[in-house]
Amino acid sequence: MRAVELQDLLAKMTRQEKINQLLQLAAGFYIDLDAVTGPIEEMGLTEEMIDNAGTVLGISGAADVIQTQKKYLAKNRLGIPLIFMADVIHGYKTIFPIPLALGSSWNTALAEETARISALESAVSGLHVTFSPMVDLVRDPRWGRVMESTGEDAFLNAELAKAFVRGYQGTDLTLDVERVAACVKHFAAYGAPVAGREYNTVNMSERQLREAYLPGYQAALNEGAKLVMTAFNTVDGVPATANQWLMRDLLRKEWNFDGVLISDWGAVKELVPHGVASDEKEAAILALKAGVDIEMMTMCYLNHLEDALEAGEIAENLVDEAVLRILNLKNDLGLFENPYRGADVQREQELVLSDAHRESARKAAEESIVLLKNSGILPLASQQKIALIGPGAESKDILGAWSWQGESEKAISLAEGLRKYVPVEQLMIAKGCEVLTAGSQTEVAEALEIAEAADVIILALGENSDMSGEAASRSDIHLPQVQLDLFKQLKKLGKPIVVTLFNGRPLDISELSQSTEVAAIVEAWFPGTEGGNALANILMGAINPSAKLSMSFPYNVGQVPVYYNPDNTGRPEVGRSADEKYVSKYLDIPNEALYPFGFGLSYTSFSYSDLQISTTKLTPSETLKIHVTVKNTGNIIGKEIVQLYIRDVVGEVVRPVKELKGYQKIELAANEEQVITFTLSENELCYVHQDLSFKSDTGEFHVMVGPSSHDDGLLKTSFTFIN
Ligand code: BGC
Repeated sequence: MRAVELQDLLAKMTRQEKINQLLQLAAGFYIDLDAVTGPIEEMGLTEEMIDNAGTVLGISGAADVIQTQKKYLAKNRLGIPLIFMADVIHGYKTIFPIPLALGSSWNTALAEETARISALESAVSGLHVTFSPMVDLVRDPRWGRVMESTGEDAFLNAELAKAFVRGYQGTDLTLDVERVAACVKHFAAYGAPVAGREYNTVNMSERQLREAYLPGYQAALNEGAKLVMTAFNTVDGVPATANQWLMRDLLRKEWNFDGVLISDWGAVKELVPHGVASDEKEAAILALKAGVDIEMMTMCYLNHLEDALEAGEIAENLVDEAVLRILNLKNDLGLFENPYRGADVQREQELVLSDAHRESARKAAEESIVLLKNSGILPLASQQKIALIGPGAESKDILGAWSWQGESEKAISLAEGLRKYVPVEQLMIAKGCEVLTAGSQTEVAEALEIAEAADVIILALGENSDMSGEAASRSDIHLPQVQLDLFKQLKKLGKPIVVTLFNGRPLDISELSQSTEVAAIVEAWFPGTEGGNALANILMGAINPSAKLSMSFPYNVGQVPVYYNPDNTGRPEVGRSADEKYVSKYLDIPNEALYPFGFGLSYTSFSYSDLQISTTKLTPSETLKIHVTVKNTGNIIGKEIVQLYIRDVVGEVVRPVKELKGYQKIELAANEEQVITFTLSENELCYVHQDLSFKSDTGEFHVMVGPSSHDDGLLKTSFTFIN
């Protein structure tokens, strides 16, 4: 349809039809109406409203979608099709590692491929829009939703955000019916709730918001993402869903976003408990004025916009604008011509959870699993007698909290993965305890007995999937005590212990990390459908681990938030003697994280040498080339993530101690070396100044290149930027 035809269509719509377009309901209202009769009445909904709501959330499966769309169109006076949306966050039925794990892969091509497959499986199952990518920058592992983010760095997050959008949407969403539209969320700064408590207030300056938190969303939008979802939180005191500065001035005017803005679930009505609207009508007015087009799962628009319009409390054109944006999205999806789009029962059967997709999921997990500690015990030899102990040993609860369509019984457990390598008589298995409850005496005894008989213990610990994700904040980010108790018993045996972790957030694992009995720690995150195969491949050495953390692991929860790029203080610890008192430090732990951003080990080793820059005086019209030689000094092939950081030594505003400005994931054969080149120009030196302008400062810049954000291991040089 052409733009003018959409205008004509809008002109034909009644006011009620327009308001109905702004409503989004969940699947139950379409699939199983009887089950929601009570709520329907309470919500003031009529069947007619349901029949005319513009979008729906959570219906999928080609047959169901086709049937629902058919029924819907039969009743819809103007034949405006329904959009089917859902949360496909890291896979539809083939579940990939959680986004925080994909962040650890630092591999944008891989991230794009996971999104492409997610889109393909979703589209053939009838979906049109996914509520992904979630690009909220995160620094506080108490917040359960860190699992949905790619981590603590604005630059890496932005690269991955773009990759996800490309993977979901492809290059022509209208023609390519096996892609879906992407919805960037949660706008804005949802990842910074005070004290890591879910839905809590966010407090930050506009400068910080622009510098650290906004780039991810903006990158996704520049890549063409079609929708934005509002955040639950406040931004400078005003809930995002009612925040005219955020949504109108910044998102629509400054960034020119003309796509669909959808509220988060219930967020319009929540303006009342937030205390910025006295009732639902005021909530509706505030949200519409802020530019929210679709109200998800509450009825403020539906029940009150008509009155507000009648009373002249809101301008009719605001409703028209919102409807037009929704019609535009329907048109961009090609739904007027083909309301069933990619929904295809046969393709669905062939493609969803296919072997090829499983293989991609396995590769993604292999690149996302981070080796945090290794005394040399890994990889394991298949002749060793292994005691596989712990709640994660045979667990299939490894998909993570956001695997809506994922079926955990189809996931490969660690035990299943290991059995492919280790003969039955050499792989003894005992749980010892559950994730949260202690094992019986017999269960513990059994675990100790097999441990005694083994050469090495693999202790599979972690969280269950509902301990992270939405509404899963934790004030204590240790492993559950029952697991630590099991560890303490096992450690008495003096056998080497390889700890594997399935979890959705950086945990406090200081005790494990410092224990000499723990010979290795492998962070597997929630690795998805093929998790057990991927982890076994790493443990047994078929795959050399190559992931590096995209979010720091703290020493303890008291250090949170700890991230690699804090601003410098006037009393920095660096360069002072250890006994100096009045410096910015803790008395009991280091300032740096236990395992910092960018850290991850390999079974081989890499050396960095010969850092060179093309000039020591950079001008605005030039680019700076940075060269470094990276060598695989071990005897097996391996991948390395080469990281480039800079520091603006003197700024108008205090600058972070380092900022990631580039990275390359390379593969080197044993003894192979490669010269890696990065390029910097003025743009990479710019930051948000006091007056909120994005510009650079002249003066000295440090350049640091190395294997992680930790100072040890970074090669350093500097240049001066002159104007
Ligand atoms: C979450 C969103 C999600 C929405 C729809 C909300 O509770 O915050 O991330 O997209 O539900 O399921």
